[in-house]
Amino acid sequence: MTQKTVLTILLLLAPELLFAAGTRLLYTMPHINETDRAAIQRGARVFINYCLTCHSAEYMRYKRIADDLGISEDIMKKNLMFASDKIHEGMVVAIEADDARRWFGVPPPDLSVVARARTREWLYNYFMTFYRDEKSPIGVNNATFPGTAMPNILWELQGWQDPVYETRVNAKGDQERVIVDMKLVEPGKQTAKEFKQTIRDLVTFMVYMAEPAELERHRLGFWVLAFLFVLLMISYALKHEYWRDVH
Ligand code: HEC
Repeated sequence: MTQKTVLTILLLLAPELLFAAGTRLLYTMPHINETDRAAIQRGARVFINYCLTCHSAEYMRYKRIADDLGISEDIMKKNLMFASDKIHEGMVVAIEADDARRWFGVPPPDLSVVARARTREWLYNYFMTFYRDEKSPIGVNNATFPGTAMPNILWELQGWQDPVYETRVNAKGDQERVIVDMKLVEPGKQTAKEFKQTIRDLVTFMVYMAEPAELERHRLGFWVLAFLFVLLMISYALKHEYWRDVH
């Protein structure tokens, strides 16, 4: 490899490396199955109930979700949409952008493809690591996204957590207090196990939303393999036929 190629590769990797260095994720992501339609549907429900007040997901149309999940428009409308939503439109936000900016200082970003920008591990950690923080102007903070302007939206389900600190020596040799875990100090409506499942479902939905074609690819993948298998059988039979007289 020439020096130039090495440099190019490093430059291409640079954002990844920076990103990896900047975030310290507390938890490893439990396995999620991005084609699990039941999980996607449960996650969609959480997303629609708790997130669309502030965030939009403009590129995700309700009709597409109904088609992908194999549910009828009626069920979609009854169970997963607010009365004012239109089935052929994207998921729009309930608050005005100007209000949002005034309230939070930053407008809540569109979440259509956030799973691609942030990774599923990051999202899982983000939702699992909101904690009480008297020093923060909004009373909460987040170990994955320190100083985030987003309130702890799911506190009702999760309850409240306090961080668990540990003193570590950093690369410069200084002692530093770092958050190593979360401790539940006030239970919510869900048990810790149920809440984890809720977050898994939510992330599954967000991964699907960022790449809805994934479901289609899996479906196609099956038929491609089936086709290849049939082709193999035919070739085998043919070979048999051709060589019969030779032996
Ligand atoms: C009350 C308004 C509000 C609600 C409801 C809300 N958020 Fe947020 N969210 C925000 C704001 C404001 C930010 C911007 C935070 C910042 O940049 O400091 C944000 C940021 C985020 C981010 C980080 C985006 C990025 O890449 O920087 C994600 C992911 C996110 N929200 C997901 C969700 C999900 C999922 C829900 C529903 C469970 C939700 N939010 C509900 C206000 C909200």
